[in-house]
Amino acid sequence: MPLTGEEIAKHNSRESCWVIVHGKAYDVTEFLPEHPGGPKIILKYAGKDATEEYEPIHPPDTLDKYLDKSKHLGVVDMKTVEKEEKEESPEEIERQQRIERMPILEQCYNLMDFEAVARGVMKKTAWAYYSSGADDEITMRENHTAFHKIWFRPRILVDVEKVDFTTTMLGTKVDIPFYVTATALGKLGNPEGEVVLTRAAKKHNVVQMIPTLASCSFDEIMDAAEGDQVQWMQLYVNKDREITKKIVQHAEKRGCKGLFITVDAPQLGRREKDMRSKFTDTGSNVQAGSTTDNSQGAARAISTFIDPGLSWKDIPWFQSITKMPIILKGVQRVEDVIRAIESGVQGVVLSNHGGRQLDFARSGIEVLAEVMPVLRERGWENRIEIFVDGGVRRATDIIKALCLGAKGVGIGRPFLYAMSAYGQPGVDRAMQLLKDEMEMNMRLIGCSNVDQLNPTLVDTRGLNMHTTSVPSDTLGMSVYDPLVSPKEKAKL
Ligand SMILES: Cc1cc2nc3c(=O)[nH]c(=O)nc-3n(C[C@H](O)[C@H](O)[C@H](O)COP(=O)(O)O)c2cc1C
Repeated sequence: MPLTGEEIAKHNSRESCWVIVHGKAYDVTEFLPEHPGGPKIILKYAGKDATEEYEPIHPPDTLDKYLDKSKHLGVVDMKTVEKEEKEESPEEIERQQRIERMPILEQCYNLMDFEAVARGVMKKTAWAYYSSGADDEITMRENHTAFHKIWFRPRILVDVEKVDFTTTMLGTKVDIPFYVTATALGKLGNPEGEVVLTRAAKKHNVVQMIPTLASCSFDEIMDAAEGDQVQWMQLYVNKDREITKKIVQHAEKRGCKGLFITVDAPQLGRREKDMRSKFTDTGSNVQAGSTTDNSQGAARAISTFIDPGLSWKDIPWFQSITKMPIILKGVQRVEDVIRAIESGVQGVVLSNHGGRQLDFARSGIEVLAEVMPVLRERGWENRIEIFVDGGVRRATDIIKALCLGAKGVGIGRPFLYAMSAYGQPGVDRAMQLLKDEMEMNMRLIGCSNVDQLNPTLVDTRGLNMHTTSVPSDTLGMSVYDPLVSPKEKAKL
């Protein structure tokens, strides 16, 4: 006999707390203190259907993994569950109207256009999570503007009738030198989540990096790959190394071709826009007072397991548990690149996590310009593969990174925005636009393949000028949200 809504509604307190997720009931009373996001958010849904809030943040296998089977109470007759009449806020009504007036996909001519559309049509909390950066967001903006400080020194009279911009990354042949980098919580932007990116990556023959904190389960994302499609894995290292070992070895068994260990996040950065978006209009924080302080946005709540004790000493252990190439993601200075090479890893990503961690960290492209001459001097430039991410929005950005010595670049937010606004066709178009830009710009710089890209083709003299201005291009300016101060309470 299915359970009824009436029965479940009785268990609406800390003493007895049942919730419905995807048509099934769960007794989470004893789990409340263990919930990484704190008990308050669960208690908000005590005795009710929590699916909508639960869905984007938890991969589908979460309840099976973390809640004892004896607490799985069974199927609910959803017809008997009272639907909460939610009054649409004026903000939500406006958003729905903007969705109706959305530009058609063909009106998006570059990656910034997807961001502009997404900003209007995404839910406020989802937009805040994706678009926020740490503190004053200076690094986040710098990632984008740093590319504007590099100018070209193109060659002329080179035969560029045929242009080939395929390359290899960690042994995988790809159509264009970018990969889809790991970004958490894909279902905040699209109900299908990260598998949308998997399919687009297949279509354009590029690699997808699977995030530890994906909304889909790891296996769902692997299963969505087709044929010999290559995927990498991004790892947040769990304090419990047995769990980490299981995750890594499972990824290897499933055929992942690279292990990207995130090294720039011993604690998640303060992303104030994300934190602010969690406040209700009355100014009260729905999650305040929980044992885990997740008033700090979705990111902090789901990342309490990350080990701040991770250090260089752990690298040999990783090398002992996997044969996958190991790449350190989030390296930010020459000394650490040298140390990474000495420790025998196969690559580094020069990255500051999209400006979401240490504010005033320098852009990856600036660090690259500093790293490569030092490696060349030592004859070490081919000892590892060097990737860059952060602020890549144009094929010219990709070309600049390759000229300076990167093997490829990671792209994060633009694909999230394309997916949030237009689903898979959006990501597909975003990737195609990059390919079209790439072909044209390779011709215009005078190179017919990526091996010809070299440091003499760029002028980097402006790179170490740090400005804290808003992006200097008009497209960049139009999508940047200035930070805001606290809002007054709504009128009673
Ligand atoms: C919404 C979002 C979530 C992210 N989640 C992760 C993550 O879980 N793990 C990680 O190593 N990096 C994460 N990153 C950082 C990206 O991998 C990458 O470094 C960054 O997005 C590159 O900058 P871009 O967004 O300007 O392209 C995230 C970035 C964003 C925007």
